[in-house]
Amino acid sequence: MKTILITGGAGYIGSHTAVELVAAGYQVVVVDNLSNADTTCLKGAEKITGRSLPFYEIDCCCKEDLQTVFKKHPIDGVIHFAAFKAVGESVEKPLMYYKNNLTSFLTVLEVLLENGGGNIVFSSSATVYGQPDILPATEDTPRGVATNPYGNTKQICEDILTDAVKAHPTLQGIILRYFNPIGAHPSALMGELPRGVPNNLVPFITQTAAGVRDVLQIFGSDYNTPDGTALRDYIDVNDLARAHVSALQKMYTKNDPGSCEIYNVGTGQPLSVLELVQKFCAVNNIKVKYKMAGRRQGDVEAVWANTSLANKHLQWKAEVPVEETLARAWAWEKKIRDL
Ligand code: NAD
Ligand code: WQD
Repeated sequence: MKTILITGGAGYIGSHTAVELVAAGYQVVVVDNLSNADTTCLKGAEKITGRSLPFYEIDCCCKEDLQTVFKKHPIDGVIHFAAFKAVGESVEKPLMYYKNNLTSFLTVLEVLLENGGGNIVFSSSATVYGQPDILPATEDTPRGVATNPYGNTKQICEDILTDAVKAHPTLQGIILRYFNPIGAHPSALMGELPRGVPNNLVPFITQTAAGVRDVLQIFGSDYNTPDGTALRDYIDVNDLARAHVSALQKMYTKNDPGSCEIYNVGTGQPLSVLELVQKFCAVNNIKVKYKMAGRRQGDVEAVWANTSLANKHLQWKAEVPVEETLARAWAWEKKIRDL
């Protein structure tokens, strides 16, 4: 049985991935410094899997601490989620973002190499494309100029991994570019736990529905899109979690050290902000007060994925209908608010 280290595994996507890995027969070890999570989702993952998941509260930037985890467990592969992810905060605190996101990844790679290498999946983002000229975005779509330090850390880490696998034949990598992950586990035992005012659309919708926020502002109604609001590709977090399992399976089957492949992870279906809000209201039979507002600085008009490569080579595709995802997001919000 292969043992996979999940860095940032107490977080939103990491905890869902832990569940899918266990279901697929992997042993998982979780590392997280709890800088943007508590243990709620990890406990949820343990309840769902019926397993106690080895967890180390350590910082991935600390090489000695990471080494102790590698000494205790026969790590065969790593999924690296551990990073700061708030775009706006990255503009205010660029050094903090560069330091954490780059140092944690470099340290993980160093320690993996010192322990004989292995397979590694890196969490990248559709943000690397900026506003593509041609849609949907394929993996060959040129990366845009990063408009914020967070996006830049994703581009730099992609380059680090690409260079590292070329130089170190014991490494094999897959870069997954996530589009817009949303939703929660069907059990409502895991989901997104944003701190403070949510930046992302779906937590803002669910918090407005729950009465925590007064009104949702729809940022931009004058885009060159069918209803004037921005288009995105919203991917269910459980589908996204399965993509990591597929990525690892691809690497173990192909066994091609020295390679680094890139895959888009999305649904391939664009939805507008307004459509998403309307679907949320319809499926949950609830009203969400919203108002049109100006465009948010740094936002792109439209981006969605061409997922052919992942469909073909990872034998993965998005399955959960967005209505179901939005029902799960609301079930999770109600659960954490005790509604
Ligand atoms: P999250 O904040 O819920 O999870 C990240 C986890 O990493 C947190 O639990 C945090 O405590 C931990 N962490 C951060 N720095 C660490 C460090 N130095 N050492 C140990 N732990 C550390 O975020 P998420 O939404 O689950 O995102 C996971 C990954 O996916 C991130 O790399 C993020 O950039 C990337 N990503 C997320 C999205 C999204 O919209 N959620 C989209 C594209 C890419
Ligand atoms: C989606 C749409 C908003 C909130 C961000 C990061 C990206 C990736 C995913 C990590 C946009 C609109 C939002 C609100 C709104 N994260 N919106 N009112 O901006 O596509 O991507 O998260 O890698 O890097 O940039 O996602 O959920 O913030 O916004 O109208 O209160 O919803 O303007 O059009 P985004 P989002």
